[in-house]
Formats: sequence, C-alpha cells, structure tokens
Amino acid sequence: MVSTPVAAASGRQYLPALSENPSPNQYLLPLTARLKGQNLEIGGCELPELVERFGTPLYVLDEETLRQACRQYREAFVQHYPAESLVIYASKAWNCMAVCAIVGSEGLGIDVVSGGELHTALQAGLKPDTMYFHGNNKSVEELQLAVEVGCTIVVDNWLELKTLVELSSANAERPVRIMLRLTPGIECHTHDYIRTGHLDSKFGFDPEQLDDLFRYISQQPELNCIGLHAHIGSQIFELQPHQDLTGVMVQWLKKAAAYGLPVTELDIGGGLGIRYTESDDPPSIEAWVQVICQGIIAACEQQQVTLPKLIAEPGRSLIGSACVTAYRVGSQKTVPNIRTYITVDGGMSDNPRPITYQSVYRALIANKMNAPLTQTVRVAGKHCESGDVVIQEAELPETASGDILVVMATGAYNYSMASNYNRIPRPAAVLVNNGEASLILQRETYQDLIRQDCLPERLLPAGG
Ligand code: LLP
Repeated sequence: MVSTPVAAASGRQYLPALSENPSPNQYLLPLTARLKGQNLEIGGCELPELVERFGTPLYVLDEETLRQACRQYREAFVQHYPAESLVIYASKAWNCMAVCAIVGSEGLGIDVVSGGELHTALQAGLKPDTMYFHGNNKSVEELQLAVEVGCTIVVDNWLELKTLVELSSANAERPVRIMLRLTPGIECHTHDYIRTGHLDSKFGFDPEQLDDLFRYISQQPELNCIGLHAHIGSQIFELQPHQDLTGVMVQWLKKAAAYGLPVTELDIGGGLGIRYTESDDPPSIEAWVQVICQGIIAACEQQQVTLPKLIAEPGRSLIGSACVTAYRVGSQKTVPNIRTYITVDGGMSDNPRPITYQSVYRALIANKMNAPLTQTVRVAGKHCESGDVVIQEAELPETASGDILVVMATGAYNYSMASNYNRIPRPAAVLVNNGEASLILQRETYQDLIRQDCLPERLLPAGG
C-alpha cells in the first residue's frame, strides 16, 4: 500500500507540514507522519506494528524531524548572522545518549544542568568544547567534574564563582572557561513555573552587580570569562521579549570591554514555543533566529561593539514535535450526563506536564485514522491520583479497549521528567527513520524498579 500524506487523506486538523521548508515546531505531528490505510505511520513505521514489537506506553521519536529542527536553527544563523554562532541543545528537554549523539552529529553543542546530563553527553561522544554547564546550585563535585572535563561553566551566583576560584587555583595555566548568567528583568507570557528572566527569579546574578562581578573576575587569573548568558523563559510565542533581550545583553557586553575582559560570546538562551494544539501559533524557528540576529546586529552597531559569537540554546523547539507517545486504551467509564473517561496504560509518570503545568495535549487513535470524530472524552492515566488526566477534553472517534491512543508533541520534558510514581516502570523509546525502528531507551523492568532497594537483614521475614 502506498503511503499518503495525513493532510490529504484524513482532513483532520493535526497535520504535519507538507510545505517546502516546514518548521517542525509549528506542527503537532512529526514531519514524516503519513496515513497508511487506517494507520498512522511515522518515520516509515506504522504505529500498530511498533507497539506490537516494543509494547506501550512507547515514546516514538522521529529522527528526521529532530534533524530538520537542528538544521533549521543552524542554517538560520548562518543566513542571518555574519559572525560566529553556535546552537546548543538544552538537553534537559530530553537527555539520553541517542538524542545527544543525534544533535552532536548535526553540529550542535549541548547545554547540561547536572553531572548526570554531563556524563550522558560525554558517554554519547560529545566534545567538552561545545558543552555548557548550567544550574543555580551546582555541587562541588559537579563543578570539579566540569573543570576536569573542560566544558564552559555558566556561573549562576557568587558562591559558585568563589568555589571555582578555589577549585581552579591549582591550575592557573589552564583557566576555567566561564560565562555569567544574568537576570535581564524581561517579562514574558508563559506559565509562572517556567519564567526565568524576571528579576524575582532564583536564577542568575542581578545585572546591578555587573561592575562588582567584572572587577572581581578581572583579578582572578584562573577564570577566563568568555561570555554572558540570559534565558527568559520557555514556551514563548512572542518575539518581542527576545528582541528586547538582545539590546540589554549588548549593553552588558559593552561594560565587560571597559574592564578589559575578553568577553566575546553572548548566549541568548532558549524558549521558543511549539504547537500543542490547533490554537497555538508559535513563530517558526527561522523567524525566531532572524529576530535575534537582527537585534544583536542593530544593538552592536548602535553601541559600537564588535559582533559577539552568538549562542542560542533551544530545547523544546528542537525535539518537542519530533515525538509522540503511544498508549493502549484500557477501561472506559461513562458518568451519565457528565462525561466518558477513557483510560490509557500510562499517564503522569511518563508525562507529568498536564498535572504540573495544566498543559494541554491533543490525541488521535493511531489505528483508526480515517474514522470520524464522534465524541469528546477525558483521557485519564492509570495512576492512583484523580488529577492524573492526560487530556481533559479529547475529540476522538469511537474508541475500544486495545486501540492505540497517540498523544502528540511529547518530545520535550516528558521522558526527562518521567518518574516511577506508583512504581510504574518508565516506558521504552524508539527512534524511527526510513522504515527502521531502533530502541534508544529500554523499557524498565520490575527488577529495575528494585535495583536500588536495600532490605536490611533485620527486616527479612523471620526464617527467611
Ligand atoms: N536554557 C536555559 C538556561 C533553560 O533554563 C532552559 C529551560 C532552556 C535553555 C531551554 O528552554 P526551551 O527552549 O526548552 O524553552 N519543564 C518545563 C520547561 C522548563 C524549562 C526549563 N528551562 C515544561 O515542561 O514546560
């Protein structure tokens, strides 16, 4: 049977892009999504076959969409920025070895926020010279590891700065590369938990302290302050806050020059949003990059500052739309005159975003793609918690137990925030491309769940 594009065949609203250069963050399904008869196909693999082979819940990651997003960021910078630039993947969105290896092979650097993320990226073969280590409370051990490895450390506060001076004082011939994270005082409209650029944030230095910071650093030969960083928040659809940020950051850059510091890099953070529902309308990757480049170029011209090396660190917009989560439908319950609940075999442990941020997702039935949408139901998870609802109001066709329910745009902050709540094993993840499916994360087993448990001898059942 020939694959046909979802757009043509189903007439549904959840369409992957079929235009010439689609921006992955603007579509609910991965770019390779197609219809094959009644079935949804991604990366040339039909969903029913994937779940038959790998079980459910299953994260299905489309390699092509992820690579496209990486390329669009890189190409947009090459096109719109005449000086050096680097895109680093904010791996908190989804940190695992395969994902690190893919983004690394596309020429991206990586942003890590813990020793664990750093270790994973190293194991995946990424090079420390394009690694940036963030975090507002890095432990001494984490800092030690970062210094040894030789990645750039994005310093968040005075304690960290002073700890780094101590750690590196034995090694003045190889100064530690640092950036300073500052809170730019820029407001943007997103969920409160994911706003970071306003002054009342736990992250970063107050720009009021810049003179003190630059003075201090200029007296520390162990520290090589190469750049300045800011990140204003996540899932942002407006371009204005980032444009405003460019002006603010160039002012900081100018100040550094006055202290004779070799600060030549500006890291503008991430934050570009993706489409989770039809009403979401994020700018394309290219539009976002263009606004930032133009902003930096204009501000540098105006303030007579040499163009810095420009760094951006997107997470969600690189990987969010590249993945779907496939579940099996289980029990159903109809509360007369109120609603029908359809339960899936996962929920808040594999996608904690709905319960944490009231995030809204869309779903479809991957083995009934042509069936008309006849009902609005609540898709509930299997955890012992009333709030474990994957989708409050999902429009679905007639759905039976055993059907495959797919939730779209689950690539970012799903696996990376997954838990074992209710001792539910974390799902497997499979990478699809050109009809091939490769396991990138094994499904956890019950044995994995008790791997770290210790049962002191005195608690063993008598006679055991
Ligand atoms: N850089 C820094 C310093 C960050 O803190 C973040 C995200 C990023 C880059 C990447 O931002 P993105 O391009 O992904 O928007 N768990 C929340 C999102 C938390 C974002 C944390 N920082 C969620 O599920 O919506």
